[in-house]
Amino acid sequence: MDVLISAERIRDRLDELAVEITRAYDGKPPVTVVGILNGCLMFVADVIRRIDLPLRVGFVTASSYRGPATVAGKLQIRDDFLPDITGRHVLLLDDILDTGKTLTRVVSHLLDRGAASVKVGVLLRKIGRQEVPFEPDFVAFTIPDQFVVGYGLDFDDEYRHLPYIGVVTEAG
Ligand code: IMP
Ligand code: MG
Repeated sequence: MDVLISAERIRDRLDELAVEITRAYDGKPPVTVVGILNGCLMFVADVIRRIDLPLRVGFVTASSYRGPATVAGKLQIRDDFLPDITGRHVLLLDDILDTGKTLTRVVSHLLDRGAASVKVGVLLRKIGRQEVPFEPDFVAFTIPDQFVVGYGLDFDDEYRHLPYIGVVTEAG
């Protein structure tokens, strides 16, 4: 495993990102932070602890990748763990912006559910992969077109627990 972004760099960058997010929502109606499971796991936990504003938290799932290969299948969104967001301002957090299909679909799903606004924050934005036009409001890191794992991101549901972001090498 090659370390692409160390736990320390993640920590430092999230300190900055939380300031940006707090500024954006300070003095505004309370925000509902919505994470896209499972990849958002650590990102949501670390971001909300840095935001000193009243907020609610909820989750949706969006599964597109099936099995070990990174093949995009049919996207399925589930929102059983989403609080009522009618008329609420939502900050949607996801691990990575790759093709942009997931975030585009989830944003419109949340607007359909009655959200007053939806801003999007991603931990990672992969360069050169985007297929649909989509501009996130907050980006922690921009990375090259490599398959990354750790800090919530998986390969075949493994490696999510790593405290850093790494690239799986051929040897494993
Ligand atoms: P998109 O719909 O193509 O933007 O895909 C976003 C989803 O694909 C993310 O939420 C991840 O679950 C997954 N994904 C994309 N790139 C990677 C990667 O490099 N490592 C792990 N998961 C990835
Ligand atoms: Mg994901």
